Amino acid sequence: MKLTVHSSRFDYDIFLENNLLDNIENYIDVSKRYFVIADDNIPIEIVSKIINKFSDYIFINFPEGEKSKSLEEYSRIINLLLEKGITKDSTLIAVGGGVTGDLVGFISSTLYRGINYIQVPTTLLSQIDSSVGGKVAINANNTKNAVGTIYPPKLVLIDPTTLSTLPRRHFNNGMSEMIKYGMINSEKLFNIIKNKDVQNNLVELIYECLQIKKIFVENDEFDNEKRQILNFGHTYGHAYEAYYNYEKYLHGEAVALGMLKSCAPDLVDDLKFVLDKFSLPTFDPADKEELLTYIKRDKKSRADGINLVLVDKIGHAYIQNKKIVNL
Ligand SMILES: NC(=O)c1ccc[n+]([C@@H]2O[C@H](COP(=O)([O-])OP(=O)(O)OC[C@H]3O[C@@H](n4cnc5c(N)ncnc54)[C@H](O)[C@@H]3O)[C@@H](O)[C@H]2O)c1
Repeated sequence: MKLTVHSSRFDYDIFLENNLLDNIENYIDVSKRYFVIADDNIPIEIVSKIINKFSDYIFINFPEGEKSKSLEEYSRIINLLLEKGITKDSTLIAVGGGVTGDLVGFISSTLYRGINYIQVPTTLLSQIDSSVGGKVAINANNTKNAVGTIYPPKLVLIDPTTLSTLPRRHFNNGMSEMIKYGMINSEKLFNIIKNKDVQNNLVELIYECLQIKKIFVENDEFDNEKRQILNFGHTYGHAYEAYYNYEKYLHGEAVALGMLKSCAPDLVDDLKFVLDKFSLPTFDPADKEELLTYIKRDKKSRADGINLVLVDKIGHAYIQNKKIVNL
């Protein structure tokens, strides 16, 4: 399956196919030199499938986890790339989840004022969401995605068979973002997730999510208006993540709690049912006042309040500017 995303930089393709990585030479010129970057927890078989086909490559590893979306790791990898002789026409390949994609994408957007990068997402979250749309960032001062750019990848290669090694908790983490797409845009998708076996329909469901993401991204690439709908659940979600110092919740788990705080009261039971199906959290005892201090630090906060994404009906979201004290 193939989708093409239009962006101001260029149009780029997303290829989605089981076992795609076994035939990577069909998608990229394997005779060129690549800088392949992955965290140190990704199964080596996945990375090997890619680099075994290359005649000339540099492989760079970094410690897994959210903490690596940092200024320190950014600067360490930039120095390493420069030491290894990276040039303006080089291409980086991000192999891994959203952390890898965000970090490598941000490096690509700033190194030599921008070099090409390819996304090879290997978590459900990154396959349906973070690898597409060009939002790339690192965290700073305990603030999520504080330093970032919007810089699309040259290509996205999605092989859903890579998910076979993904721990259940991380798969469910991605399901939270899939549920989000249903909540904001597609009652049909929400009902499939609710009533059917997701594993048996995975490739089609990933494709469905990518189609939704493509439309939002193309209509508002720079996140000025409608694209913010994709942030449903994220204002509270980011606050929960930071409140617990990125240790208690994975991103999607925190978003699950955020969605419950941002949907109409009559949708809460239905949403809880679906979140429960994927063992996602539906309650957290965090102190409300303290959470608000993190929401104030959210990059979407302005002096006059924050644009909050709300869902009033499954499949329909809207943006409302709210005073932070009234949340
Ligand atoms: N840029 C965007 O638009 C966007 C959107 C949503 C989320 N995000 C970001 O994405 C990040 C979360 O991404 P994530 O959930 O993918 O986490 P992650 O990148 O940390 O990956 C989760 C873990 O799974 C491991 N892993 C990856 N693929 C695997 C596989 N196939 N088999 C076994 N293990 C595997 C990784 O090594 C890691 O330990 C957050 O930083 C979030 O802010 C970005």
